[in-house]
Amino acid sequence: MSVHVIYGSDGGTTRGIAQRLASRLQGRAIDITKASVADLESPALLILGCPTYGFGDLQSDWEDRLSLLKEAQLSGKRVALFGTGDQMTYPDTFVDAMGILYDIVVDRGAQVVGFTDTKGYDHTGSAAQRDGRFVGLALDEDQQPTLTDQRLTAWIDQIR
Ligand SMILES: Cc1cc2nc3c(=O)[nH]c(=O)nc-3n(C[C@H](O)[C@H](O)[C@H](O)COP(=O)(O)O)c2cc1C
Repeated sequence: MSVHVIYGSDGGTTRGIAQRLASRLQGRAIDITKASVADLESPALLILGCPTYGFGDLQSDWEDRLSLLKEAQLSGKRVALFGTGDQMTYPDTFVDAMGILYDIVVDRGAQVVGFTDTKGYDHTGSAAQRDGRFVGLALDEDQQPTLTDQRLTAWIDQIR
């Protein structure tokens, strides 16, 4: 199964996660600044990763390249999302960016896989939740770095 992990990252955390996912799924990690529409459309599984900045905003490269996602034909495509954030410093907007990407890909007809439980997180609000679940994998390398590996493993099993 071909896998592309498209990510944006200011500080490198999300890039690192994208590279780990790509290596474990024998896929390619591609920075959103270098991605093409074909990179979004061609894989059997498309994974999108974004940190949240501001208070609940997309990372700036994602913001700048959002037109790419809006152009892509994603009808019926399997898409999985992950978000990086900090639940203690930003408890009301935890991994919000993942929710922003979710709404766009659903609007484009994607079939989103990889919803996860909110158990084990300590936050008060997130735009990345639907019916009490995260729309993808929420990772907190600032507050819960020791949980990342097991979260990745469980999620990979789920989406594979
Ligand atoms: C100025 C600033 C604003 C942030 N805002 C949020 C936020 O609203 N929600 C959240 O969950 N995390 C927020 N974060 C935390 C980052 O999303 C988190 O540190 C992430 O791992 C950074 O990823 P990167 O290194 O790939 O850029 C913010 C961080 C900074 C520095």
